[in-house]
Amino acid sequence: MKHSAVLILTLNTFCVFSESALYGQALGRCQFSSSDGHDAVYLEQYYFNKMLFAQYNSTLGKMVGYTKKAMDVADTLNQNPEFVTHEKWKTRLCKQNSQLAFKGLLRSVEPYVRLRSAEAASRKHPAMLICSMYNFYPKQIIVTWLRDGKEVTSDVTSAEEHPNGNWLYQIHSYLEYTPRSGEKITCMVEHASLKEPKLYDWEPAPDPGMHKIIIGTAGLVLGLFFLAAGLIYYKKKSAVRVMVPITEVFHPGDTL
Ligand SMILES: *[C@@H]1O[C@H](CO)[C@@H](O)[C@H](O)[C@H]1NC(C)=O
Repeated sequence: MKHSAVLILTLNTFCVFSESALYGQALGRCQFSSSDGHDAVYLEQYYFNKMLFAQYNSTLGKMVGYTKKAMDVADTLNQNPEFVTHEKWKTRLCKQNSQLAFKGLLRSVEPYVRLRSAEAASRKHPAMLICSMYNFYPKQIIVTWLRDGKEVTSDVTSAEEHPNGNWLYQIHSYLEYTPRSGEKITCMVEHASLKEPKLYDWEPAPDPGMHKIIIGTAGLVLGLFFLAAGLIYYKKKSAVRVMVPITEVFHPGDTL
C-alpha cells in the first residue's frame, strides 16, 4: 500500500548571503512514501526573494548552490565536518519521524459501509444494489460482490473515491443483477484498517407476491373471526329468545 507525505521538519537554519536581502527563508522538508522510512529524503532549501539558491539533499549528501555565490558557500559548508554531521543528524531524524508519522498521524480509518437497493439504471437487469463506503483512509480499498459466495465481475461499476476534504474518502460500487430466489448477495470490503475482509449481506425485503399472500390470509382470518363472532352472538340471542317462552311456562308463585 503506497502513501506519500511530506513532513515539514525544521525551520531553524537561515543565513543571509547578501546585505540587500529583502526576504529569505530556509525550509526543511522530509519527504517519504514508505512506512519504514527507508526512502525518506531530507531536503533543506534556501530561498532568497522566492528564488531557490541552494539546497541540501540527503540523497546526494551535500549542499548544492545554484548561483555563483551560493556555490562557493555550499563548497565551504560541505567541507565543514560540523555542518555535515548536523545535516546527517537531521536526515536520521527525518527517517525516524516518517516511521512515527505512519504509525500515528497516518493511521488507517475504517470505512462506514452501507448496502442498499436502488432503481436499476439500465434495462439489462431489473435490480441494482449499491455498496457505499464512507470516511475511510487511506484511499486504497477493494470492493468485491459475491453471489452465493462466488465473485461477480460482470455488471459491476464503481464511482471514484471522493475526498471528503478531511483526508477521508468515499466510494460507491454498483451491482446490476437479476434476482434469483433464495440467493445471498454480499458486498465484501478489504481495507488497510481491517484485519480481514468484512462481509455485508444483502437482506432483501420480502417480495411483493409474498406480501399479498400475507395480507390476503390476514384478511381471510379476520373475516372468519367476525363471521364466527357474529354466529355466536346470533346463537346466544336466539337462545335467549327461545328461553323466554320456557320461563313463561312456570307461573309466578309456583314453587319448585
Ligand atoms: C534529491 O536528489 C536525488 C538524487 O539526485 C534526486 O533524485 C531528487 O530529485 C532530489 N530531490 C529534489 C527535491 O531535488
